[in-house]
Amino acid sequence: MVERPETKSIVVTQAVQDYAVAHSTFPPDEVQRSLIEATQALGGVSVMQISPDQGAFITLLTRLVGARFAVEVGTFTGYSSICIARGLADGGRLICCDVSEDWTAIAREHWERAGVADRIELRIGPAAETLRALPPDPPIDLAFIDADKPGYRAYYDEIVPRLRPGALVLLDNVLWSGNVADASVQDENTEAIRAINDHVAADDRVEAVILPIADGLTIARKR
Ligand SMILES: C[S@@+](CC[C@H](N)C(=O)[O-])C[C@H]1O[C@@H](n2cnc3c(N)ncnc32)[C@H](O)[C@@H]1O
Repeated sequence: MVERPETKSIVVTQAVQDYAVAHSTFPPDEVQRSLIEATQALGGVSVMQISPDQGAFITLLTRLVGARFAVEVGTFTGYSSICIARGLADGGRLICCDVSEDWTAIAREHWERAGVADRIELRIGPAAETLRALPPDPPIDLAFIDADKPGYRAYYDEIVPRLRPGALVLLDNVLWSGNVADASVQDENTEAIRAINDHVAADDRVEAVILPIADGLTIARKR
């Protein structure tokens, strides 16, 4: 019998993450650092903000697909939207979906400061409705899903038909602190994440990988 090797992943301490970010092309600039501070001042909800290494990766992915039209589901205080907006091609546009006026007010302020406000359009309201109202044209080049977990399936199903071939849909928190692989955890959010992971894995319209970056990121490419 072939022995199964242990995982080759390392434990990503804060020091390792800082090192990785410092050696990437897109470390947080002054505006993003200020946004991290402003978000931390909100208290416990600040854990919802994506990490700087993930943000740098999302900027690079946005560039890789030459995105002109991007959609974000779950904007919060705006960190990931700045990362996407900075990766857009000239003349590119990002539609942001959220339900919170308060949290996105912080996002708006930092979009202005980051010089990307002109390419972002914020739509306040349940994201499923916002997505359903999107016309088929222009097709989406990159979408990022990072909102309420029970909604992921509906968001994904609205987005995939609107992606151009070769476009990406990214889904955040798909490892849910590792709980997806622990059968004893059966709460609503964990079950919702398991369901969307099964759905994406069985979806012939895309080819997908889950990367164990941050809390787990799915990258699905439309065939
Ligand atoms: C994890 S946070 C997003 C973090 C963000 N991507 C960042 O980089 O900071 C989730 C966001 O989803 C929003 N949200 C929750 N339910 C929603 C819904 N039904 N429609 C749209 N947004 C929703 C919340 O208001 C919250 O701002």
